[in-house]
Amino acid sequence: MPARLIDGKAVAAEVLARVRAAVVRLTAGQRPPPTLATILVGDDAASQIYVRNKRRTCEEVGIGSRSHNLPADVAQSRLLELIGALNAADDVDGILVQLPLPPHIDTTEVIEYIRADKDVDGFHPYNVGRLAQRIPALRPCTPAGVIELLCHTGETFYGRDAVVVGASNHVGRPMALELLLAGATVTVCHRFTRDLAAHVQRAEILVAAVGKPGLIRGDWVRQGATVIDIGISRLADNRLTGDVQFEAASQRAAWITPVPGGVGPMTVAMLMHNTVEAAQRRRAR
Ligand code: GUN
Repeated sequence: MPARLIDGKAVAAEVLARVRAAVVRLTAGQRPPPTLATILVGDDAASQIYVRNKRRTCEEVGIGSRSHNLPADVAQSRLLELIGALNAADDVDGILVQLPLPPHIDTTEVIEYIRADKDVDGFHPYNVGRLAQRIPALRPCTPAGVIELLCHTGETFYGRDAVVVGASNHVGRPMALELLLAGATVTVCHRFTRDLAAHVQRAEILVAAVGKPGLIRGDWVRQGATVIDIGISRLADNRLTGDVQFEAASQRAAWITPVPGGVGPMTVAMLMHNTVEAAQRRRAR
């Protein structure tokens, strides 16, 4: 039987509805809305689209949006100065610096300069460390969105064999920490993994986060597995595709995310969720 599709658009819409309701509660009595500041450096076309989408979603759910567009040759010191001002601004709850940054910018310094309690991407080492220590604060958006999707399928995690393919700082690694926190037995595969197929074949929960079209062959997928495809690449014919061979994998998996329309919408929804959470935590102090 072909796999059931995990509808990321529908689950994201549910998350956004909860965010909207939380914003209504937070703004009762004329209080200011939770507010997200986004910083875009340069004119990379894909980044422009992503940031526009984030700013528009803020408007849709009632979150305040402050937009900062800086030129591609901005000095590191100028970028840090802006982040410093946003760190200190009482009316800013979340700060997002769109990545990648131009090569002359030290991305690590930028991420670490954002106040951890305003780091709505969940990229700051404090937030990643909290996740690693099972006391999550602001969680990286894409991995947290994947957990939402998995919960939606009725997936149980305790003792299940989960395999994450891809070990990036912002997706693969925190994804493994999320699955570990949820109780799965987690394997992380990366460029030095010797027998990728053997690991994939064991996975009851398979998460692919590499960005290489079709890297995961459909016939490697375990019968009845839940397959989450975070990879998204544009083919020569302009179609978007994931890391997993979708058609063949669908013949074996029980559940699978489409690309597009699977994990993608969850990242922005979880960013909105984190912005509300950051505002709630700051106002509770
Ligand atoms: N670039 C691609 N994805 C992301 C993301 O989730 N956050 C940020 N800040 N930049 C990105």
